[in-house]
Amino acid sequence: MKNFNQAPLPFQGQKRRFQTSFKEALKEFKDANVFVDLFGGSGLLSNWAKQQFPDAKVVYNDFDDFSQRVANIERTNALLSEFRIILKDAPADKVIGKELKSAILKAVRREEKHSGYVDYITISSSLLFSMNYATNYDDLAKQTMYNVVRLNDYQPAPDYLEGVEVVCVDYRQLFDRWKHVSGVVFLIDPPYLSTDCGTYGNYWKLANYLDVLHCLKGTNYFYFTSNKSSILELTDWLEKNLGGENPFKGAKRVDMNARMNHNAGYVDIMLYKKAGV
Ligand SMILES: C[S@@+](CC[C@H](N)C(=O)[O-])C[C@H]1O[C@@H](n2cnc3c(N)ncnc32)[C@H](O)[C@@H]1O
Repeated sequence: MKNFNQAPLPFQGQKRRFQTSFKEALKEFKDANVFVDLFGGSGLLSNWAKQQFPDAKVVYNDFDDFSQRVANIERTNALLSEFRIILKDAPADKVIGKELKSAILKAVRREEKHSGYVDYITISSSLLFSMNYATNYDDLAKQTMYNVVRLNDYQPAPDYLEGVEVVCVDYRQLFDRWKHVSGVVFLIDPPYLSTDCGTYGNYWKLANYLDVLHCLKGTNYFYFTSNKSSILELTDWLEKNLGGENPFKGAKRVDMNARMNHNAGYVDIMLYKKAGV
């Protein structure tokens, strides 16, 4: 299986910076025979788990149909090369004028009609201001476009999810399916609280976020969060003041500094724990 340092297409929240520490930590789970990636996102953690444990079963919860985006890379490349032709005389990084914008939209519309599929998230990163994503035609048409079209094709990745079982269900259903099976390790990377979850729905409130902690009770797990979410502070406080059980007690922790922009940073955190520790 080929090594992927990052997901083959843009995906907000992919854990690419944890590659080394995640793979290193996986070595502590030698007895594992199933990995269940409850919030699979781009599938990067599933890919790495399968790489490290080729004989294990790896279940990737593809809640956003990322695998469909991967399967359509060549189609997306074709659309991007059309954009390059349309924008050949337009200045790079500048707003795209009305006429050229409508030519772009026409190409998108035609592609959608013709093939039935457009990867709006990927084309957004070539047409919209950084971190802005459209998920459908109307969304895209509404936005100011910029000439930030990627210059090279995306590499087709037919083997990216080789040997991985792909499912698409609510994480609670998937957890219930696997929670009693021995040798299971859960990979738990929920949408961050208080961040823009624009590309994958906006309904993640505090209660949803706390519900996920049920998946940490007595299980083998990897859990990802950031210091922006304050979840670790909250569970510490509850333990100290109300005597609640802290699901992170005994977990190992790896911190990774991240940048939002030039003057604001935050810390991405990976915690992992073996059941019974
Ligand atoms: C932070 S991302 C995961 C990123 C992933 N670990 C990676 O490296 O690409 C969180 C994911 O959870 C998905 N999600 C949101 N609600 C969910 C639910 N109820 N059940 C399962 N997945 C959900 C989001 O769509 C998103 O793909």
